[in-house]
Amino acid sequence: MKVLVVGSGGREHAMAWKLAQSPKIQQVYVAPGNGGTAKDAQLINVPMTDLVQLRQWAIDNHIGLTLVGPEAPLAAGIVDDFRAHGLRIFGPTQAAAQLESSKAFSKAFMERHGIPTAEFETFTDAALAHAYVDRKGAPIVVKADGLAAGKGVVVAMSLTEAHEAIDFMLLDNTLGVAHNVGGARVVIEEFLMGEEASFMVLCDGKNVAALATSQDHKRLLNGDEGPNTGGMGAYSPAPVVTAEVHARALREVILPTIRGMDKDGINYTGFLYAGLMIDPQGRIKTLEFNCRMGDPETQPILMRLKSDLLEVLLAATSEGLDQLEMEWDRRVALGVVMAAAGYPMNPRKGDPITGLPKDQDDAMVFHAGTTEKDGQILTSGGRVLCVTALADSVKQAQQKAYQTARPIAFDGMQMREDIGYRAIKN
Ligand code: AMP
Ligand code: GLY
Repeated sequence: MKVLVVGSGGREHAMAWKLAQSPKIQQVYVAPGNGGTAKDAQLINVPMTDLVQLRQWAIDNHIGLTLVGPEAPLAAGIVDDFRAHGLRIFGPTQAAAQLESSKAFSKAFMERHGIPTAEFETFTDAALAHAYVDRKGAPIVVKADGLAAGKGVVVAMSLTEAHEAIDFMLLDNTLGVAHNVGGARVVIEEFLMGEEASFMVLCDGKNVAALATSQDHKRLLNGDEGPNTGGMGAYSPAPVVTAEVHARALREVILPTIRGMDKDGINYTGFLYAGLMIDPQGRIKTLEFNCRMGDPETQPILMRLKSDLLEVLLAATSEGLDQLEMEWDRRVALGVVMAAAGYPMNPRKGDPITGLPKDQDDAMVFHAGTTEKDGQILTSGGRVLCVTALADSVKQAQQKAYQTARPIAFDGMQMREDIGYRAIKN
């Protein structure tokens, strides 16, 4: 079978790398891919981002299965379109993808179906939003409605920050949020305390299968300080997701979400990612939904997947997940992101990357914002690489990931030095 992975990040590099290990696969294509997928002899990049063009390419090239990494093509309806042309594709439809593409939709959905989440209100009018924030006080969280590449959330510790966020989200759109119908909107919600975890499942429209648990680090700087990013590192499993929390997440969040979508007339297929806040008593609230796997969480998760990813996806596209038992490596996987100068606001492109090591079974350099030019790898985006290692403990996986990252260099490189610290017992 020939398979196509859509996307160009570290997540898609990991998906393509994992799929290429399947004995049933003739060829893995990545559209458009990056410098890492270009360099990998097992993978072929297809330099296309236009979805109609890509669908025609998939038909012409007899692609047996398409896997979509990022949210933008899902929100644009790639699944609806590929299916309408008889192509097998794993992901949510455009209607289902609203769980991620609109915070206002997902918050109203959670409220309607009794799924635990922070108290909130939605605004289009800046004056009303300012008045609400003054009434509620800080800390408070301001979220842009619309896809914003992980940058549309401001956790405001002061009223000043909250007011500023309202202005740049509702009036200026300095973040470049892709607005939904009706224009700029913000969700303003209660600040939650606790520890975060990424809880991901596969849905085949009928059954749900949980992936290994994970946790990422969203802030730019050590100690979870600085601005929010798409994610500076991740590890799997997440110790905060105990067996009890796992059961609760399925019972209180995931299953009611799938059932709620069904009640609203939307059959959910694809990955579903619930960002959870877990309090010290093990109670959970849903911070957000994503309709895809997380990046960088995918990199450590897929390094731990022992099952054939193609088999998993074939089951997931034929209502067969109840027949499948996924096998996971008992070891810990930990990935460290190396980001470009200026990330997250203004990442610089075009810096040459040196010192890239050879891939190993237990230490992989997944590429994200890279491109290959005349045999050289250059930076081409915010998150450049995710160096991911497998080892017996979090501490050892952390050491190995940083050791693997050490020889890699590019101008202005930003890397946290403490990925995994919450999971390391002193
Ligand atoms: P989201 O994209 O909605 O998950 O928000 C991005 C990040 O902002 C989350 O991973 C949290 O770290 C933080 N965050 C979002 N909502 C809240 C909240 N209600 N309380 C505290 N932190 C939050
Ligand atoms: N790492 C968080 C996300 O993919 O949204």
